[in-house]
Amino acid sequence: MSELVTYERQGEIGVITANNPPVNALGQGVRQGLAEAIAQGVADGEAKALLIICEGRTFFAGADIREFGKPPQAPGLPEVLDAIESSPKPIVAAIHGTAFGGGLEVALACHYRCGVASAQFGLPEVKLGLLPGAGGTQRLPRLIGVEPALGMITSGDPIGGKEALANGLADELVEGDLREGALAFARRIVAEGKPPVKIRDLTASIEEAKAKPSLFDDYRKRIAARARGNLSALRCIDAVEGVVTLPFDEGIARERALFQEALVSDQSAALRYVFFAEREVAKIPDVPKDTPTLDVKRGAVLGAGTMGGGIAMNFANAGIAVTLVDVNPDVLKRGMEIIERNYASTVSKGRLSQEEMDKRMALITPGEGLEAVAGADLVIEAVFEDMALKKEIFGKLDTLARPDAVLATNTSTLDVNEIAAATSRPGQVLGMHFFSPANVMRLLEIVRGAKTEPGPLATAMAVARRMGKVGAVVGVCDGFVGNRMLHQYTREAAFLIEEGALPQQVDKVITGFGLPMGPFAMGDLAGLDIGFRVRKHRKAQGTLTGRYAGHVADRLCEMERFGQKTSAGYYRYEKGSRAPVPDPDVEALILKTSEELGIARRNISDEEILARCLYPMINEAAKILDEGIALRASDVDIIWINGYGFPAHRGGPMFHADSVGVKSVYDAVCEFQKEHGDVWKPANLLKKLAEEGGTFTGR
Ligand code: 3HC
Ligand code: NAI
Repeated sequence: MSELVTYERQGEIGVITANNPPVNALGQGVRQGLAEAIAQGVADGEAKALLIICEGRTFFAGADIREFGKPPQAPGLPEVLDAIESSPKPIVAAIHGTAFGGGLEVALACHYRCGVASAQFGLPEVKLGLLPGAGGTQRLPRLIGVEPALGMITSGDPIGGKEALANGLADELVEGDLREGALAFARRIVAEGKPPVKIRDLTASIEEAKAKPSLFDDYRKRIAARARGNLSALRCIDAVEGVVTLPFDEGIARERALFQEALVSDQSAALRYVFFAEREVAKIPDVPKDTPTLDVKRGAVLGAGTMGGGIAMNFANAGIAVTLVDVNPDVLKRGMEIIERNYASTVSKGRLSQEEMDKRMALITPGEGLEAVAGADLVIEAVFEDMALKKEIFGKLDTLARPDAVLATNTSTLDVNEIAAATSRPGQVLGMHFFSPANVMRLLEIVRGAKTEPGPLATAMAVARRMGKVGAVVGVCDGFVGNRMLHQYTREAAFLIEEGALPQQVDKVITGFGLPMGPFAMGDLAGLDIGFRVRKHRKAQGTLTGRYAGHVADRLCEMERFGQKTSAGYYRYEKGSRAPVPDPDVEALILKTSEELGIARRNISDEEILARCLYPMINEAAKILDEGIALRASDVDIIWINGYGFPAHRGGPMFHADSVGVKSVYDAVCEFQKEHGDVWKPANLLKKLAEEGGTFTGR
């Protein structure tokens, strides 16, 4: 028998134990082992029921994703599950950790399911561009009903033990030791003479859906509105529909066909790449996993403005006590009120309990003086974006903070090395660049200064994880990774409207590609006044010369059209609405601007718009990689997916470049350079990969 799965008998129960760290993925060896153990258990004359349980931190967390895309190796999971379901002896699944994907499908092939309350049950295949491919779409609805199953399958989000018990997914919750509790449950089944319940034969839960055939189309409409071109959830619905339109075996065959179609799709390849990229981003080559970190028990945030409040919430959400400091008592009071309002709104939506809100609020203490940092393990500064002020503050922190404390700045544009040099401990200084709203956005760029030491860096990464953020290590440069690329993208978008496009055309191309909003709607959301002020300042200094982006924006700002906050910017906004409405006045203003700039407007194709928006970002990212500012192309992708809403089903900008072909991107960049000058100068890495036939992501 395979070493990954063992069989032993405990009294009248045959116990099948899997042990395939770290997550008991159902690779070939596990499937083989399970098939053999089931056969052994069925043949074991002393065994009256069988129990399937896993060692380590979890029940099977799914199929082995690394096997996808390779030739299939027998036995397939569906065959193993058939053997489980058709066993004449009752089989019980004993669940802890995360019974995900193929793991939950194993449990659904069993005749009974018990587990601990902390266990999670989910079918997250949709997040990998797939659908449950081993009976999940046919068995789950037959057990818990079509609508609840559709919810779980199309969202991919898990449910906890209590909910599983309530909706019938789990038959019993076990307190204390799972193995003991599950054995007792199995013995009871034997004692009570309960038969093996095959979910394939259950019909009661699907009657309601059979009487309501419009259900699936309603669901499709709802999903399509937010899918942004991602087809996986729609495929899931197609499969689940088989539950009411087809007999079980045909439903399974249809599920299998849809699964195979999804498996070879570009979208699934992209999403599976993203899954591993998100795990890779946490690894820093010269900072080993066992690098000692500071156990952050207390934090301090300086500045209770837009960012500071959200950052303080992140500490509280992670269960870490935090002091929120501001020099201005009114701002501090308002900052605390905003935090309270944010939590209250989450409570009113039912996504947080009042008790949990109270607990989190109690973790946040307002403070007026910098002395409050004395007890903190991690201080995050989020005061005005002003180098002199930041240096003064870091100078003071150096004397006030504990000698071992990690000192971080949330600056978005200033030189972290210069800030670090204001202290006597630059090794403990780094950037923690949160994205707005800081309590919502998953991305956190962790800026490694020239002198930042491994311990503080690893500490910041660990805190990011505790806060539920995706931390990506980046180097010091203007804009770090995300905003440096964004700058290229918004510049070209601005040029495009001077040359012949309109904001609504550009935005439509970008949303059609899958981003949540285009550059002009985004500009209106962020506010056009900040850039306007910067350009005014640079014009006064004489540093804004040559062709620059912002002619249209400047004219809009001169008319006090600052974006959503004034109900007018590139678009106009109806009172109380955030929906951008194209504005003929803006169109006239754009045409006039082109004329004044001496640009003859032309028709610009959607293809050109897409290339002009995406390729300068890709080229900039190649420079970023050349300079070692990002560690890997996949980190760039993770930054853009989590910080800017780049569609994950396209894998991120670098994966997209590989999909298009690096050579095509390079050729287009060279053409644009001829037309538009050296802002399009190809990066060395882009040129090198194009010449070698290489890729950014190693596909
Ligand atoms: N296959 C292969 N490797 C997997 C894996 C899987 N299903 N799930 C996790 N791993 C690997 C990770 O890549 C990581 O490897 P690394 O240490 O080399 O980076 C390691 O296991 C640990 O994973 P995490 O760092 O993610 O550990 P966490 O404790 O944070 O999370 C988890 C555990 C919740 C199980 C999370 O890993 C997860 O969500 N895994 C994916 C689950 C999933 O999508 N299952 C469905 C697969 S598709 C399927 O089953 C098809 C079926 O219907 C036929
Ligand atoms: P803000 O203007 O909303 O808040 C700054 C706060 O700092 C103010 O409340 C002010 O009273 C306080 N402050 C000033 N001097 C102080 C001192 N000596 N001690 C304590 N508090 C002091 O600014 P915002 O937008 O929150 O930005 C803060 C930092 O975060 C800046 O460095 C900015 O570049 C960065 N950032 C901002 C983002 C955004 O979208 N707003 C995104 C990412 C980073």
